[in-house]
This record gives sequence, structure tokens and C-alpha cells, in this order.
Amino acid sequence: MTEHFDSKAYFESIYTRPVMLETKNLSQIFNHGDGERLVLNKIDLTIHKREFICVIGPSGCGKSTLSRVVAGLDDFHSGEVLVEGQKIKGPSSERGMVFQGYTLFPWKTVKENVMFGPIMKGISRTRAEEMAREWINIIGLDKYENQFPHELSGGMKQRVAIARALVNEPKILLMDEPFGALDPYTRQKMQKHLMDLWQNIDLTIMFVTHDMDEAILLADRIVALKANPGEVKEVIEVNLPRPRSFDLIHSTEFKQLRDRVNQLVHSQEEELDPSLEDLPKIPRMTQVSTQK
Ligand SMILES: Nc1ncnc2c1ncn2[C@@H]1O[C@H](COP(=O)(O)OP(=O)(O)O)[C@@H](O)[C@H]1O
Ligand SMILES: [Mg+2]
Repeated sequence: MTEHFDSKAYFESIYTRPVMLETKNLSQIFNHGDGERLVLNKIDLTIHKREFICVIGPSGCGKSTLSRVVAGLDDFHSGEVLVEGQKIKGPSSERGMVFQGYTLFPWKTVKENVMFGPIMKGISRTRAEEMAREWINIIGLDKYENQFPHELSGGMKQRVAIARALVNEPKILLMDEPFGALDPYTRQKMQKHLMDLWQNIDLTIMFVTHDMDEAILLADRIVALKANPGEVKEVIEVNLPRPRSFDLIHSTEFKQLRDRVNQLVHSQEEELDPSLEDLPKIPRMTQVSTQK
């Protein structure tokens, strides 16, 4: 299935593209109980224009911290975050965000949610409405433009969240476990939908997930983070042809990649979030025994 894919040429062409997003020596420290905790330690990333990067790592390794910092939502301790060579200063519509918790405005309709960005930029309501309609059509929700978020399924909400980010024509789309709350079937549909979108627009994606198959299916390169402190353990080139379909999951190449990523992520079990280490013993609160 993959024998005609020249992955060497594919990655060489990626590396000749301009750098879109860079982190240099990026560190983040949080106050934690009595002391400070180094959560990200000297993260160096170079992401090229139109690359699809997946960031993977165990729970608590700092994936969301990294997304928030790159989004400009949080200040960071030291280092640099650059978009096309310029230091970021807070959030910007050039970096669209789709995070797991549904972040749509519950009191606004689908159309009004998507119009929000353009209106904030000072674009007229008429034009903002046109732009919103265009994106709502692209994501296939035109029949729902006047519905409210609570009337939509989880997958639909995330499609609206994607449209709401893309209507601003961002250079970069930051996604933090965007499909994490979806059932497996919807999740596959959304992965396909996102790959189709990305293939057809000028967009660089940094996608955070803890799901190995999702990372392999979507990414050009996978950044594997380790925990305590969060550091880049390895960057893996995914040598699978595009466009990709779910059948690929059964290919030898996919399985080899999964073994590799699995080893990277699982060799860190001992380094998991310390809060998981001392889980309390649950006091008995029932008379009914679960043991025979
Ligand atoms: N605002 C914060 N204040 C203090 N500690 C935080 C804060 N945000 C995250 N942390 C801690 O930083 C670590 C990394 O968290 P996070 O980036 O959410 O991990 P991940 O997304 O990889 O599961 C965790 O131990 C978490 O408890
Ligand atoms: Mg997270």
C-alpha cells in the first residue's frame, strides 16, 4: 500500500518550507503546593508551513500547558515562542484554537458563534454573516446555522468550533484533544474531516492528543513528550502516504510506528503525574460485597 510513497522527498520538501511556528528553550514553571514545579523544560520545536504536527505524551506531561502557551493564553517562564519569526504577544486570530471543552458561546446560534471573530475584528455584520455562512457550508452544517450549541451533538459542536477558528483565516490551528470527548465513530469521522480540511487550505496544525493511533493517522511528525519535567523525547517522521484512510491502521508500516510510539510513551510510566502516585484508599461505604 505504501511502497510508492517517497517519504524522504516528502520530508525534504517540508523542511525547505518557511518556518511557521517555533519554540526555543521554552520553559514553564507552576507553583505547586509549597514549591515550584518545572512543567515544561527547554522545549525546542520547529514547525514548518502547512505541516501537521501531533504532540503526544502521558497525562500530566504538559501538553495542554504547551498549547496554552503557544496560544498566548498563559505567560511562560523563559524561552521564546515565534510565529514566522516574530515573538507572540498574547492570543491572536492568526492562531486559531479548538480545545476539548466545548468553547462555543451557549447563548449564541451556530452562525453567531462563527461570526464572532470577524465582528471582533471590526468587519461589518453583513460581511461577517457571509463569511460565517461560507464556513458553515464547508463544514456541512448549513441546516443548523440557527440552532444553539445545546441542540447539537458533540461532533457537530466541534465542527462549529473548527469553523469559528477557521473563519479568521488563521495561519496556525492549535487543537488540544479536540476529539477526546467524542465516541469512536464520530471521532473517526472528525479525523477524516480535519484531514480533508487541512489538505485543502493553507494551514499549519499543532494537534495535541494522548491517542497514539490518532497521532499516527494525522501527523506529518509526532513530537513525543516525556513527563516530569515535560521535555521533547523524540520527534518521529510519519512515513505514511497521503491522503490517508483508516485502512492504513492495519498496514505493517502503521503497526511499526505504533510500536515505536508505544515504547516511547510507555517507557515513561514511572514518570507519570505525581498526583496519580498516592491515590487514596476508598473507605467502605456499602454493605453489599463485590466479592464472592
Ligand atoms: N495553572 C496551573 N497551575 C499549577 N499547575 C498546573 C497548572 N496547569 C497545569 N498544571 C500542572 O502541570 C502539569 C501538566 O499539566 P497539563 O499541561 O494539563 O498536562 P497534559 O495536558 O499533558 O495532561 C500537571 O501536573 C498539572 O497539574
Ligand atoms: Mg491536557
